[in-house]
Amino acid sequence: MAGWHGTTVSSMLRVVCLLLIFGYTVGKNLHKSADNESCQPKRPPVVIIPGDLGNQLEAKLDKPSVVHYICYKKTDAFFTLWLNLELLVPVAIDCWIDNIRLIYNTTTHSTSAPPGVDIRVPGFGKTFSVEYLDPSKSSLGIYFFSLVQAFVEWGYTRDDDVRGAPYDWRKAPNENKAYFLALQQMIEEMAEKAGGPVVLIAHSMGNMYTLYFLNHQPQAWKDRYIKSFVALGAPWGGVVKTMRVVTSGDNDHIPVISPLKMRSQQRSAITTTWLFPYAHTWPKNQVLVQTPTYNYTVADYKRFFSDVGFNEGWQIRQDTEPLVSDLDPPGVAVHCLYGSGVPTPESFRYSDKFPNAEPVAVGTGDGDGTVNLRSATQCGRWVGRQRQPVKLLELPGNEHVNMLLNYTTVAYIKTLLCSP
Ligand SMILES: *[C@@H]1O[C@H](CO)[C@@H](O)[C@H](O)[C@H]1NC(C)=O
Ligand SMILES: *[C@@H]1O[C@H](CO)[C@@H](O)[C@H](O)[C@H]1NC(C)=O
Ligand SMILES: *[C@@H]1O[C@H](CO)[C@@H](O)[C@H](O)[C@H]1NC(C)=O
Ligand SMILES: *[C@@H]1O[C@H](CO)[C@@H](O)[C@H](O)[C@H]1NC(C)=O
Repeated sequence: MAGWHGTTVSSMLRVVCLLLIFGYTVGKNLHKSADNESCQPKRPPVVIIPGDLGNQLEAKLDKPSVVHYICYKKTDAFFTLWLNLELLVPVAIDCWIDNIRLIYNTTTHSTSAPPGVDIRVPGFGKTFSVEYLDPSKSSLGIYFFSLVQAFVEWGYTRDDDVRGAPYDWRKAPNENKAYFLALQQMIEEMAEKAGGPVVLIAHSMGNMYTLYFLNHQPQAWKDRYIKSFVALGAPWGGVVKTMRVVTSGDNDHIPVISPLKMRSQQRSAITTTWLFPYAHTWPKNQVLVQTPTYNYTVADYKRFFSDVGFNEGWQIRQDTEPLVSDLDPPGVAVHCLYGSGVPTPESFRYSDKFPNAEPVAVGTGDGDGTVNLRSATQCGRWVGRQRQPVKLLELPGNEHVNMLLNYTTVAYIKTLLCSP
């Protein structure tokens, strides 16, 4: 979700808990202080592109075998696999991991679901799947709800001129070709209906998806269909936190779930490796992971994946690294908003139990708690490199997901959408 940003299932849970605590008060402030006047009648349509873990996923099962007798082998219908808090508890989580994991084929360089597991993304073109990750709409799973609700108060209509573009966030863009075609068609339809171009609003890893999409569209198409791209909390240069996730797993302090258990699922998500720090942003001498025998930097990934016992990771990195690593300008007006001033992991020190124990120390630097500041600001390299404007706005004190609720963020977007 949000993370995403390479975050992990568990940090997602932490974040949704934070939202539970903060979302409430921030939501109230929003209501009180944001004026609710409508936009001009000719407002631009909006498409929301969520981050990693940032939309619902559903599964249907007809499996040859299960990992535990309590696991369902066969279901009659699709059920919610993400976010479904009932599945993220001891024992049930083993079934969940065995359903949500991806299997990477080293010959074809592509992934597939385990035998008998059918996964689908609900709600393409609608907003529900990105407003709440949890269909029961428990406040724990709130994501884009507050922002979409603000749009509605300004005159927008859900599923009509504000729509979501959810996707299978376990996979990188190279394995989501049909998604980009559907996204292109939806944008064209919305623009034709509104008689004007569309605003794209992405969060976290959704920005990498959006950049990939825009880099693959002809300039004439972008000139015609895209008004602007609002990039919220983008990990342009990757996120150091992902290295901990692949090394030792990450349960983000949920004591009932062992990080090592999460690790297998987290490694199988292609996007975790895709979001490893990039050499275009991290200096080659900066130590990201320190062990008694070796210090790993961005230049050591081949060795790193081998040493943590995840050789496939190196292949996956090679498959996915080039997708957006050139950071070519998107060729549309960009509004790049990012949080700062929140301690953000930037290095991990391990004992000789590496990689099978938690880090003994975590070094932090500036960022939004998930995305390192140096990564979030890489949109700055587009200034002057495209004819469309590129604006950067730092939001001090904003956490990665909470920035979606912040008044400054909402007011900025309102000005963008509602001024003629
Ligand atoms: C990988 O894909 C190839 C080609 O489709 C197939 O022959 C092979 O059995 C697959 N490998 C595994 C481990 O499934
Ligand atoms: C907008 O604010 C006014 C005055 O505060 C209130 O009466 C009205 O119900 C609000 N409209 C919406 C759609 O919330
Ligand atoms: C790793 O880096 C630290 C800090 O710079 C240094 O003290 C340590 O000796 C290095 N370890 C190895 C194995 O090079
Ligand atoms: C919202 O963001 C602004 C700008 O970073 C910050 O000054 C303010 O404290 C934030 N508000 C809340 C309620 O977090």
